Order: sequence, then C-alpha cells, then structure tokens
Amino acid sequence: MPFGPFYCVFRWDLSSFEYSEPPHPPETLLRYADAGEIGSVAEVWYEGLKDEPGAPWGDYLKKWTPGTAAKWFLDSQRRMGARFLVAEKEKALVGMNGMIIEKRSGIGRFFTGVVVRSAERNLGIGSMLLHCSLRDIKAEGLRKAEVETRDGITASKYLYSKFGGKKHMVQS
Ligand SMILES: CC(C)(COP(=O)(O)OP(=O)(O)OC[C@H]1O[C@@H](n2cnc3c(N)ncnc32)[C@H](O)[C@@H]1OP(=O)(O)O)[C@@H](O)C(=O)NCCC(=O)NCCS
Repeated sequence: MPFGPFYCVFRWDLSSFEYSEPPHPPETLLRYADAGEIGSVAEVWYEGLKDEPGAPWGDYLKKWTPGTAAKWFLDSQRRMGARFLVAEKEKALVGMNGMIIEKRSGIGRFFTGVVVRSAERNLGIGSMLLHCSLRDIKAEGLRKAEVETRDGITASKYLYSKFGGKKHMVQS
C-alpha cells in the first residue's frame, strides 16, 4: 500500500474560461505587487503555508524562511518574469499568487500556489485571486493554467476545482 503525501496537478482549459467574477469581500482589492513588496509577499506565502491545518507543508517549509523565499521570488521575477498577484486589505497584504507566463508552452503556472492569511480565510479572497489569475493568463493569450499541489488539503478539496479546474494525480 502506498503512503502519502500524495501530490496532484490542477489544470484549467482557458479556451472555455467564461466565469464571471466572484463576489468581492469588502475592502479587499487585487493588484500586482511591485519589486519593493516582494519581502511582504514572501511573508504571506510562508505564514500562510505554515498555518494550513494539519501542517501538510511542514517538511517543505524547513527548507525556507521568509527571507530565502523572497530571494527565490525575486530571482524568479528576474529570470522568468514571475509576477505576484496580491490581495490587499486595510493597506496590508492578506493573500497572494505567484505566476509564470510560459509563452512557449502556452501555460500559466501558479508556481507558489494561492495563499491567504489564516485570519482572512473563507471570505472569498482565495476565489478572487484564482479567478483574476486565470482571467489575466487568458488575456495574455495562453491556453492553459496549472498548479502543482498536495492532495487532500484545503486548496485541493475546495479551491482549485473552481472555474473549471481539473485534478490529475501525480506519482511521487
Ligand atoms: C486554500 C486557500 C488559499 C483558500 O483561501 P480562502 O480565501 O479561504 O478561499 P475562499 O474563501 O475563496 O474559499 C473557496 C471555497 O473553499 C471553501 N473553503 C475554504 N476553506 C474551507 C474549509 N476550511 N473547509 C471547507 N470549505 C472551505 C469556501 O467555502 C469556498 O467554497 P465555495 O466556492 O463553494 O463558496 C487557503 O485556505 C490557504 O491559504 N491555505 C494554505 C495555503 C495553501 O496550502 N495553498 C495552496 C498552495 S498550492
């Protein structure tokens, strides 16, 4: 019998992406982070993964600190044009999604996954980030979006299946 953790990939076919915007939680706006904010983006990512119930990212996070994650994000920005969609509420960053637009393969990759601060969950911010990311990737002329994640966590159970996301299991 195989034991976990089990990994999966969610894929969206953007040729059939015709979903209207989900409701905006009050006072939350979405925008792309500028270079000076990458440290705060990395903090949201690190703290958000740490605060997932059951600590599924515990082993993974041993390799990272918010500081080393910021270096990774800046490097991805410099080398691959990565961009970071952020959710802002009362002038603080409360959610993020990092993406790489691969023009050659036609795939927009969510290379950080969608992450929302634990105090702000279940209000629709994750759905807003996902919808806007998919819409923007389609607007860039890409045909697909993709995220790698772990099976059984909140994102795989409730978020990534939205807006036509299809799950594919990955052999680990
Ligand atoms: C996954 C995550 C981003 C969702 O963010 P969020 O802001 O809570 O998402 P939303 O409020 O838009 O919820 C999306 C859907 O999931 C449901 N949902 C969210 N959390 C839930 C929970 N704990 N239990 C049951 N349903 C839940 C919502 O009810 C909503 O369903 P609906 O579309 O039918 O109304 C957030 O839980 C998170 O940051 N988790 C830790 C980071 C992580 O593991 N990210 C994935 C990296 S690959």
